Amino acid sequence: MKKIFALLLTLAMVLSLAACGGGSDAPANTDAPANTDAPANTDAPSNTDAPAGDAAFTTVESGKLHMSTNAAFPPYEMTTDNGGFEGIDVEVADAIAKKLGLELVVDDMGFDAALTAVQTGQSDIAMAGITVTDDRLEVMDFSDSYATGIQVVIVKEGSPIQTIDDLANAQMIGCQKATTGYIYASDTPENGGYGEDHVTAFDNGALAVMALVNGQVDAVIIDNEPAKSYVAANEGLKILDGTWVEEQYAIGLAKGNTALLEAVNTAMAELKADGTFQGIVDKYITAE
Ligand code: ARG
Repeated sequence: MKKIFALLLTLAMVLSLAACGGGSDAPANTDAPANTDAPANTDAPSNTDAPAGDAAFTTVESGKLHMSTNAAFPPYEMTTDNGGFEGIDVEVADAIAKKLGLELVVDDMGFDAALTAVQTGQSDIAMAGITVTDDRLEVMDFSDSYATGIQVVIVKEGSPIQTIDDLANAQMIGCQKATTGYIYASDTPENGGYGEDHVTAFDNGALAVMALVNGQVDAVIIDNEPAKSYVAANEGLKILDGTWVEEQYAIGLAKGNTALLEAVNTAMAELKADGTFQGIVDKYITAE
């Protein structure tokens, strides 16, 4: 419960940050040549009608939008048989890139590396089903949220762990390294976690699930959509009823990259308004 409250608080903060970021304190085109004080030039081509913010951001590589991700998180990002990438995040990022007149480049790496890459200027956006948290907000900025993620618990059918409360009796819980599932589960029992000694971090969710199948861990805590794909792909597993924690996903950017942040938010809002965004989601997630 405490955790849900903390997350709601995070969400409220994001919303209020978004509210004060979008207003009059962010003058568009601040880096456009200042010709407003040069009235002599009235016959010169006017640039006042240039789309706001268009030339205001630069990217890591000219003409490209680099997205750092961890492509082992279906249906948000995964590799295709021929070495490409697909998933909700990949397609949404591609649509955003097109709107910005850029070509998307997907850089696949570990989840923690994907978060670091955007902070250190090696990628323009990090998109990996990333949950907005207070700690992450200290080191990076986030776009408006585009999805809800729910941390759920996977166990073997017939496991003695039959409810989320039973997790307290688990010998070992598997999570993906550096994810919110890991961060919360490895926290102390006083903070709603199970203690580091009872949590193992795996490089990706698939490996955690494999450890569950092999009996090395008693449960896996992971986001609900990947959980559904893993349960569908492995016989004898099930997702416990109830949600462990509810979260918001957003696109991560370097701190203070306001021009790109606003361009991304605008592009995303347009994709939501014209149905493109929902079309992509529906392609990958079928309503129950
Ligand atoms: N939502 C969780 C988090 O932000 C897990 C994300 C993992 N994403 C991935 N592409 N592997 O911590």
